[in-house]
Amino acid sequence: MGLAMTASSDAAQPASTTAAPLADWPRIESPVKTDAVLEARIARILSDMTLAEKIGQMTQPEIKAITPDEVRRYHIGSVLNGGGSWPSMNKHATVTDWLRLADAYHDASMRSDAKTPIPVIWGTDAVHGHSNVFGATLFPHNIGLGAAHEPALVERIGQATAQATRATGIDWVFAPTLAVAQNVRWGRSYESFSSDPALVRAYAADYIRGFQGDLRGDGTVVATAKHYIGDGATDQGHDQGNAVIPLREMINVHGQGYYGALGEGVQTVMASFNSWHDVEAGVDYGKMHGTHELLTVALKQKMGFDGLLVSDWNGIAQVPGCSNASCPQSINAGMDMVMVPEDWKAFIANTTKQVEAGEIPMSRIDDAVTRILRVKLRAGLFDRKPSDGRYAGKESAVVHRELAREAVRKSLVLLKNENGALPLKPGMRVLVVGPGADDMPRQAGGWSLTWQGTDNTNADYRNADTVLAAMREALGADHVTFDARGENVDASKFDAVVAVIGETPYAETNGDIIASETMSHSRRFPADLAAVRAAAATGKPVVTVLLSGRPLYTNDLLNLSNAFVAAWWPGSEGGGITDVLVASKDGKPRFDFQGRLPFSWPGTPCPAPENRPDPKNPPLFARMYGLTYAKPAPVAHLDESTVTSCGEATSVPVFNTAAAAPFALQVEANGATQAIGASLNDTLRFPTAKPAIEVATSQVNTQQDAKRVTWHAPARVFARSAGPVNLNNIAFADGALQFDVIVHAAPTSPVVLAMNCGKTCDGVDIAPALSKLAIGTKATLKVPLKCFSQRKVDVGAVVEPFSVSVTAPFSASFTRIAVVAGAARAADAIDCGTP
Ligand code: BGC
Ligand code: BGC
Repeated sequence: MGLAMTASSDAAQPASTTAAPLADWPRIESPVKTDAVLEARIARILSDMTLAEKIGQMTQPEIKAITPDEVRRYHIGSVLNGGGSWPSMNKHATVTDWLRLADAYHDASMRSDAKTPIPVIWGTDAVHGHSNVFGATLFPHNIGLGAAHEPALVERIGQATAQATRATGIDWVFAPTLAVAQNVRWGRSYESFSSDPALVRAYAADYIRGFQGDLRGDGTVVATAKHYIGDGATDQGHDQGNAVIPLREMINVHGQGYYGALGEGVQTVMASFNSWHDVEAGVDYGKMHGTHELLTVALKQKMGFDGLLVSDWNGIAQVPGCSNASCPQSINAGMDMVMVPEDWKAFIANTTKQVEAGEIPMSRIDDAVTRILRVKLRAGLFDRKPSDGRYAGKESAVVHRELAREAVRKSLVLLKNENGALPLKPGMRVLVVGPGADDMPRQAGGWSLTWQGTDNTNADYRNADTVLAAMREALGADHVTFDARGENVDASKFDAVVAVIGETPYAETNGDIIASETMSHSRRFPADLAAVRAAAATGKPVVTVLLSGRPLYTNDLLNLSNAFVAAWWPGSEGGGITDVLVASKDGKPRFDFQGRLPFSWPGTPCPAPENRPDPKNPPLFARMYGLTYAKPAPVAHLDESTVTSCGEATSVPVFNTAAAAPFALQVEANGATQAIGASLNDTLRFPTAKPAIEVATSQVNTQQDAKRVTWHAPARVFARSAGPVNLNNIAFADGALQFDVIVHAAPTSPVVLAMNCGKTCDGVDIAPALSKLAIGTKATLKVPLKCFSQRKVDVGAVVEPFSVSVTAPFSASFTRIAVVAGAARAADAIDCGTP
């Protein structure tokens, strides 16, 4: 942990919470009232339902894993498409393709043999426009909308996105995210409007009104307030991590968005992957998905939420004792619908048994189904099919370019403008440089056609303009020259240089910047620094446009630039940028800057989180900072730090004497797995009848610090975590998987070291390295992370950091297993070749 993070937890009241702090969860009055006629109808439907029908309603599989006919047979209540999942897995599927599939699922649900067939509801991540759909307008991500500080804008975006969603026959959006992010190391910070709870609350209300309207109107959708609760509060900004904050902070900061959303009648809430440790009360609530106190007591009882609570993607599996396919704890805690993308058949079977055994009370099932029916009835789903309505099937309904362009204009934050570098004037000859200038993926960010926003090219974005295209449009193609690197250009030919740089896209987990890594943009994207340097070397005014999912340390880039614009991830409309940057013919700006920082902007590479400010390391620009043409202000030359790391935490421990959380050791043989318990005395023989593998405690460095593993037949020993761990930054810092080993019996077959073993378990054969070691002597093996990424392992989302598979007799002791930055540089690191 960096120095910056040591401030005490008492400093935690946001400046803008002016109302007296709440002591408990408030009662929220929903405008969507309970209706006795409707409730009676729900009770009638429910009384005719079988247990199978009820559990089917509570189940939400992913479209890749379920056919329309299975929806009918299993009485499925809902389907979703995950990020980067499209009809027939065709990225360029048309609006008609989507609508046809929606109709197919709907028709199948209505052909059920139930007494009252119940329409299935489809949910999708329309998080900045209908963002999985080819050709759909991509609005700025929430952080940019937050910068606009105009709640009415998100109401209009909600309406437009609802129409786009209904065009494809989908009735439910998993949006908006109401995280009040406090540490922009979190890779989902861009899904957060602001670190200011008051702003998040205002946006929540207006966005919900835009999405849901009166719920029954044409072009409205059911919305989701997510991720409940504390997703933006996790320690060090770890995705799916632990929120270590007191109750009053949970209520007064992270609850605010929910008060706004519930106050507008939001019909669904999605549980969050994070856990919560109430530091003041000393209570460990554990994972949200299993926390009755928050799901039932706070949300449903105290706040009065009467809609449905849905789990996040396999989120139930992270509750201790649960798996993807089974979690009575979560249902009993208050979960109404379970997002169980793949393992839904086993989930239905298990849940059925749990109800029959009395592990889940029937009253809880009835309550869940009542809530699901309530939402479906309120949304009018019993009265129409996906292809009804004026937007259904209309390609034009997914396109909202003018509105998006306006949103982009309003989202831009001007951080610096000296010597009138901006606006650019018509007639100027402009050199455009930088890797972000003509790169839609970098402009769109995560959750854009694909989950992480990666694996796309400009051709995947129809109805979109890059910044370069917009510059050509605004200044005339003959006045714009593009040279991505900006090297060897003849400066005399230009009047100004525009450098467009930015973060490459990312989403959950992969986007985290771990605590030991700096927030310096130039360090992560040296080509961007090079481009801005090249721009400065021309001696012409330099205008830098940064496309990013969050504030970053940019002192060096600010110094090199005469003007600097934080454009966030603006989405499909590059024209919104030139609207503000390029003046009209009379030389006057066409639009002034409206954006103000929704988060503070760091002036050091190792900034403190927003809620734990470090007086010694204040932000460079406070929240709400933003210059305008009307009111410019200078920025003095800034200190440029050469700090290359923010702390000691340059390794992720996996095992040393005991498994390091979140990892646990297991063995696998004949397709079955078994946890290696914490006992230092027991020897595990697995399977018991005829052991393929044995694990006992041994010593490598200190007493009882290692596991001696003996193979008799094909088997595997591995470390596994409940959720994905991001090793990207360690990989980037020449990381390696490192461990101490003593060979007791030399290998007689390959010894495959893998990460995220999966079905193929493709890994590095370390038998040659092990065979060279003297029996009984300790060695330290270092296997570069790139050996795994070359094998297509996503080091941004590692679930099994260490896996050793062996097929024939072999015995060795292992300990001090860790993923260590810099270890790949060691002379004795294993050479797995270059790709
Ligand atoms: C994300 C949610 C999303 C869901 C469905 C999860 O991994 O956390 O925000 O709605 O997937 O794609
Ligand atoms: C899906 C996402 C989901 C994620 C969860 C991805 O494969 O496409 O929608 O949120 O998995 O880990």
